[in-house]
Amino acid sequence: MHIEQNKSLQPYNTFGIDVSAKQFVSITAVDELKTILAENNPVFILGGGSNMLLTKDLDTLVVHLNLKGISIENETEDHVYIKAMAGENWHEFVLHCLAEGYGGIENLSLIPGNIGTAPIQNIGAYGVELKDVFESCRAVEIETGKERTFTKDECHFGYRDSIFKNEAKGKYCIVSVTLQLTKKNHELHTSYGAIQDELKKRNISSPTIQDISKAVISIRQSKLPNPKEIGNSGSFFKNPVLNAEAFREFKSNYPEAPYYELSDAEYKVPAGWLIEQAGFKGKRFGDAGVHDKQALVLVNHGNASGEELWNLALQIQKKVREQFGIYIEPEVNIL
Ligand code: EPU
Repeated sequence: MHIEQNKSLQPYNTFGIDVSAKQFVSITAVDELKTILAENNPVFILGGGSNMLLTKDLDTLVVHLNLKGISIENETEDHVYIKAMAGENWHEFVLHCLAEGYGGIENLSLIPGNIGTAPIQNIGAYGVELKDVFESCRAVEIETGKERTFTKDECHFGYRDSIFKNEAKGKYCIVSVTLQLTKKNHELHTSYGAIQDELKKRNISSPTIQDISKAVISIRQSKLPNPKEIGNSGSFFKNPVLNAEAFREFKSNYPEAPYYELSDAEYKVPAGWLIEQAGFKGKRFGDAGVHDKQALVLVNHGNASGEELWNLALQIQKKVREQFGIYIEPEVNIL
């Protein structure tokens, strides 16, 4: 383990923001993590850097989780319990599972980030969330260095939410995640219009898990920017959820607005639509901008600072509130 001083974090966050860490260490084993935690406090745990906006230099020791490895924990005739270490890249793991014929995460293809951060925000796309296949995760308590398991129930998963964004925030470092995937009789999720359209375009009527993955990859590539080409953090805001009364009023003012009915008391409105209507889609302020194909995604066109992107986010939030009376909450962590 080598502790580096004043290290640029630009290659370690998908927004590509150039801030520096006072100290930086990359760890490749859980024991190394425990040693670091015993000797340093506070620390900042860095995973794939795909869900954060860094607005300033970090004055602490940044611990980059570079834990690798995929193993089968258990197997039945129908299911496999597969464990991946926190530093494995999420999409590469999805491809690995598809190659092995394991189903359950094909709809989550091409989501940026690492395995270890997936439970924190309960990643989701096209009708599937991590919680649907999640079995458990192992985590190290930052204060004590003790390891423990979190079961699915203990994670309190919600829409882009979990215990790790609430009571357990900043207290644990997730070191591995175990998923329950199917070996046969895969449960396919193709109800999303975009997936149906894509499968139709490809003349596929009985899709395999691989077909669904390919469809999802193609949909995502058509509207979401590749962080390797243009810095971004996926959806910057969560889709707001309105109660029945607020939704009735919204719908009568904007009958054309898309929405998802969660229950007869809750309706989700796409923040991307609100932001587009507020006039921000494709707009650029210096190097900080709003993606031209999906207004929910803020982008770094080159050398935007975290502060510039955050100011843009605040402007968007304010305009959406003024125009629609709706508060949109950031999905990414602002640091
Ligand atoms: N829309 C617009 N203008 C835009 C963007 C969207 O009018 O600029 C409209 C679309 O026409 C559509 C609706 O909003 O009617 C929903 O758009 P989309 O299907 O692109 O999905 P989303 O609700 O904007 C969510 C997730 C994405 C996930 C997709 C697909 C959140 C915050 N985002 O986006 O997740 O890929 O659904 O399931 O829930 C992420 O979390 O980083 C992410 C990309």
